[in-house]
Amino acid sequence: MAPTFPAFLCSLLLCAAGVFGQAYDPSKQLSVGIILFPGFQPLDVIGPLDIIMMLSASHNVSLAMIGKEKGPVRGPSPPRRNEPPTAYPVQGPSVVATHTFADAPRLDILLVPGGMGLRVLNENNDTWIPDFIASRFDELQYLLSVCTGAAALAQSGVLKGRRATTNKASWAWATQFGNGVNWVPTARWTEDGNVWTSSGVSAGIDMTYAFFKKLMGVAAANRIMNAIEYTPHVNEHWDPFSVVHKVPGADASRPLGECVGPAGFEFECS
Ligand SMILES: *[C@@H]1O[C@H](CO)[C@@H](O)[C@H](O)[C@H]1NC(C)=O
Ligand SMILES: *[C@@H]1O[C@H](CO)[C@@H](O)[C@H](O)[C@H]1NC(C)=O
Repeated sequence: MAPTFPAFLCSLLLCAAGVFGQAYDPSKQLSVGIILFPGFQPLDVIGPLDIIMMLSASHNVSLAMIGKEKGPVRGPSPPRRNEPPTAYPVQGPSVVATHTFADAPRLDILLVPGGMGLRVLNENNDTWIPDFIASRFDELQYLLSVCTGAAALAQSGVLKGRRATTNKASWAWATQFGNGVNWVPTARWTEDGNVWTSSGVSAGIDMTYAFFKKLMGVAAANRIMNAIEYTPHVNEHWDPFSVVHKVPGADASRPLGECVGPAGFEFECS
């Protein structure tokens, strides 16, 4: 496949000059890892994964699905303490972990999804995810979380002094973790240095679009949005769910609706 825009522009050292932000280098393979745990929220994983899959048609990307153990990682959450096991009887599906935290390859990008299973891990004092994040943070170009995955980032210590957001329906639970985290109550997603965090579930798709737009360029990112026929929210400050879920600090004076349309096209909303 022909490399996309950065190839000749980078030869002019524009990329090195930071004109396009942290640009993707088409001569190198981009190593992406996604964390899996029993009780992950399916769309937190599958939404960004769909975009990464599409991207790999034109970009040299490798993917490691990283679990505590190799093999199928169940979608349904194990029972939580003091709660019946049938909270979500139809949660699923299982996704296969190709690697464990012990044998995962070098990573450029790590994405941490959320889901009820994170609470179970926490109740069992199982810190493998925050431990893995902390151990790999220095080698990463970017760390991303979707939904309550931000709680694991906070636990790992990497959010100290950074802006972050999380699922507004789970705000109280997720924001109890970490020290010195600047939790942003009104954000569809946040970007602070090389750490990106998104609000709940579907917000991960909007964040992933914004992220790859920055990394790979507008044209490549827009092509994927239009191929999957998704109309992304492009305003990181649009966050009606902070109002819906009554998050402290939510700004109820902001419009709940937002105009969206196909990426890269002019459109009007009535
Ligand atoms: C992707 O990059 C790897 C490592 O640099 C290389 O071995 C492989 O041939 C590349 N694949 C493609 C399709 O360019
Ligand atoms: C987790 O740690 C807390 C605090 O040390 C302890 O009270 C609790 O019993 C532990 N839970 C499990 C399942 O080990």
